[in-house]
Amino acid sequence: MSAVDENEMVDSEETADEKQTRPVTNEKNENVGAGGLIILFFILGLAASLVVGWIIFPKLLYSQKKQPIDYNHLLHVEEVEEGCESCHFFREDGSFSGIPRLVQCIECHEEVQGDDPEEEKFVNEYVFKEKEVPWLVYSRQPDSVFFSHAAHIKRAEMDCVTCHGLIGESEHTRIYEKNRITGVSRDIWGKSIGGFKKNTWDRMKMDDCAECHAETGGRSDNQPNIPITGFFKNIIEVTFPGTSGPGRKTSAQTQHESCFVCHK
Ligand code: HEC
Ligand code: HEC
Ligand code: HEC
Ligand code: HEC
Ligand code: HEC
Repeated sequence: MSAVDENEMVDSEETADEKQTRPVTNEKNENVGAGGLIILFFILGLAASLVVGWIIFPKLLYSQKKQPIDYNHLLHVEEVEEGCESCHFFREDGSFSGIPRLVQCIECHEEVQGDDPEEEKFVNEYVFKEKEVPWLVYSRQPDSVFFSHAAHIKRAEMDCVTCHGLIGESEHTRIYEKNRITGVSRDIWGKSIGGFKKNTWDRMKMDDCAECHAETGGRSDNQPNIPITGFFKNIIEVTFPGTSGPGRKTSAQTQHESCFVCHK
């Protein structure tokens, strides 16, 4: 047995003695102390679980990856002639080209033309080796989801920004975060653990698609959006869910056959 252990034993014996000799009148104070201690532990425990839930868990849940190349949208949009459509366009059959392939870059990058290290990396590692860049797609949905750009851009005439945010004006690619459990990009469920959404592009999970479809897709809601009626609609919806709003009768999510609008 080490010296430290012996000391500890002596200490605990002493406290046991103290307790025995303590006057009876102190008992009440001790109880108050215990109550305070419980509250203190409760608060500490709550704080600790909040830290775990709000800060540590999200950090553990998502793995971070860098794009293979730091791509500058702003620079390229100025270089090309037809803006976004030079690289993201609709093919003859109406399908969307998505992220451009190497052939679309080669007309300008057959050789290194500037002294940007990212361009050098791009040309040496991909153009010369004729290898496609394995871009990580922030907005990629799970395989079970069917999405059509033509329906939204051609028919509904929507802007890229509505769903993708300001990526077309960015100078650097941001970090891609992947959910370790589902394997899906963090952009689908969004950054806010509390579920708050400031911009339409903050997340794009099922409810977000359905929310917009309820507003626009049903086509039965031609009433102007007056704030005060919106307020009452909200109250009714919160109090009696499923009974009001244009979305409720047309909403994709409340009709079983409508699942197949987005799931094939
Ligand atoms: C010279 C070609 C080029 C032009 C022009 C261009 N892009 Fe891109 N775009 C790319 C490449 C390469 C990527 C993949 C790298 C990345 O994510 O930044 C990409 C990715 C994207 C993505 C990411 C999809 C995702 O979820 O990962 C969006 C959205 C996008 N572009 C929108 C735009 C918009 C809006 C414009 C016009 C303002 C535009 N792009 C112009 C080449 C281009
Ligand atoms: C219309 C011509 C043009 C096309 C098409 C084009 N680029 Fe560029 N790109 C440029 C010019 C000009 C620069 C600036 C040259 C420099 O300073 O290095 C550049 C710079 C770059 C750079 C370094 C700056 C940065 O973005 O970080 C990368 C990487 C790059 N291009 C990748 C691509 C990829 C990938 C594609 C295909 C999707 C592509 N480029 C298509 C003209 C083009
Ligand atoms: C209604 C919302 C919406 C709008 C508007 C929209 N997108 Fe998308 N975009 C998506 C979704 C959702 C995906 C993921 C699709 C999937 O996983 O099948 C996506 C995927 C992409 C991708 C990646 C495709 C790939 O290779 O997987 C690019 C690039 C892109 N969009 C560019 C654009 C551009 C450019 C515009 C504007 C012309 C635009 N998007 C408008 C929702 C939208
Ligand atoms: C900001 C509004 C908005 C968002 C967000 C949105 N949509 Fe849509 N979507 C529309 C509108 C409007 C139409 C109807 C286009 C038309 O037919 O005129 C549509 C049509 C569609 C269609 C075609 C239906 C058909 O009859 O051909 C599919 C599929 C679809 N959306 C899937 C999705 C999915 C999946 C998401 C989420 C990842 C999504 N949408 C997000 C507005 C939106
Ligand atoms: C407006 C488009 C839309 C409609 C309509 C829709 N979904 Fe979804 N659903 C999505 C999107 C987008 C995702 C992936 C994002 C997420 O997890 O929220 C998803 C995910 C799911 C998932 C999780 C599966 C996975 O791969 O992660 C299930 C289960 C599901 N939907 C069932 C349904 C059912 C049942 C209905 C009909 C009552 C329905 N959905 C209608 C867009 C839709």
